[in-house]
Amino acid sequence: MMDCSISPGFIGVFDSGVGGLTVVRRILEQTDHRVVFVADQAHVPYGGRPLEEISHFAGAISEALIEAGASAVIMACNISTATALFDVQRKWPDLPIHGVIGPGAADAYAQSQSGRIGVLATLGTVKTGAYTRAVQAISPEAYVREVACPRFVPLIESGNLDSPETEAAALEVLTPIIEDGCDVAVLGCTHYPYLLPVLQRLAPQVRFVDPAVRAVRLLLADLYEGADRSLYHPKGGHTLLTTGSKADFESQIPMFLPGPEADFGVDVARWQSGRLCLVAGVQAVVSSTR
Ligand code: DGL
Repeated sequence: MMDCSISPGFIGVFDSGVGGLTVVRRILEQTDHRVVFVADQAHVPYGGRPLEEISHFAGAISEALIEAGASAVIMACNISTATALFDVQRKWPDLPIHGVIGPGAADAYAQSQSGRIGVLATLGTVKTGAYTRAVQAISPEAYVREVACPRFVPLIESGNLDSPETEAAALEVLTPIIEDGCDVAVLGCTHYPYLLPVLQRLAPQVRFVDPAVRAVRLLLADLYEGADRSLYHPKGGHTLLTTGSKADFESQIPMFLPGPEADFGVDVARWQSGRLCLVAGVQAVVSSTR
């Protein structure tokens, strides 16, 4: 068991990079619960990596958060959800552990008039076919068109959210979805909500679904079921950790997590022999935010 000084009782959230902050933002909008977020920027992008490797990263990050005292975990990452969610849920059956694919599929199906659903996702998520399975588990007749968008995550991580290059990349992936007559498209990677203005401009007839909306609602319902909410920590003291460069991550936060929530400690987490160590970063964060 790792010796971790962070005080327990937080919601653990993780992603390969800044995409997970779209989920953090939704959590902060709906609860005062403290959040610890890990961006695995040492390995971003996850999307083109072997699926077993991503499953290992997601399992190890979940374990680090749980050992540090998470009262719930949300995999704010579609490819992690596709490759590791069920294993992690099996390993900690008593803890609320959520992903984004089931909720995204359910919301997309609920919002589609035509039953023709597009999915924009990373190559890895598309390879798993997880969205097609999840939608067709709800309705076997539904048509699902999954399209890989390998150019999106590098553009987003570099802050290139609306440029001719972004628009060209978006047009390329929207074309098959539009041609197939999909009326709904799932943003099947947590980075993609940052491109919503461009996507919506290019495809105004398509309704874009952010899986985080339903995922966070389900997570909080599960976490608070029958619980006394006054026992939870008050707003603030959130911790944002990166496995990459702290300076780069700090400079990304104003763009990717804007708003008045100023009480964030930012620091590093480090991979050591295949395990993620939150300790050094978290100690520094806790002392700087109290
Ligand atoms: N944001 C992640 C997802 O939802 C991973 C993106 C990546 O690193 O390729 O799938």
